[in-house]
Amino acid sequence: MSGFRRAALAGAALAAVLTAGAIAVASGGGSPAGTAGGTAAGADARLTVADPYIPLPAGDSMAAGYLTVRNTGGGTDKLVRVTSPGASSVTIHQSTETTMTEVDGLPVPANGALQLARGGTHLMIMGWEKKPAVGDQLELDLTFEHSGTIAVQVPVKPLTYRPGS
Ligand code: CU
Repeated sequence: MSGFRRAALAGAALAAVLTAGAIAVASGGGSPAGTAGGTAAGADARLTVADPYIPLPAGDSMAAGYLTVRNTGGGTDKLVRVTSPGASSVTIHQSTETTMTEVDGLPVPANGALQLARGGTHLMIMGWEKKPAVGDQLELDLTFEHSGTIAVQVPVKPLTYRPGS
């Protein structure tokens, strides 16, 4: 482990601008280097991340993250990995009625959306380098099978926050 890094939270002013709207990332035109047999030509995924937020965790060490990945392209994609410079562990979880389990990845349908929301799938964020407070921003780096990595500045919101409210 490296020492305490402030990078994830220090850029709050810039991050606030970035999170004001959706973050658009084209899938880069060609297929990722070194891959073969991906989606068919002309059927790329086109991803945007909207409404990311983290309800202020009740404890010190564990929080859930929610967001929506929209895909306006004709190709499917898959969220395969999430990391953060401000937390030691981010995993992808599926909630059931009584428990939650880690999953390897989540599909992003063509011309559709992957929604991480309360009661369903979420990101489980552990090992914060700084105790989170409302108004903080945590960078999450979302890696997709075809579209590469999209960095999102995710605001910490009050525990009862709902997007659009
Ligand atoms: Cu969880």
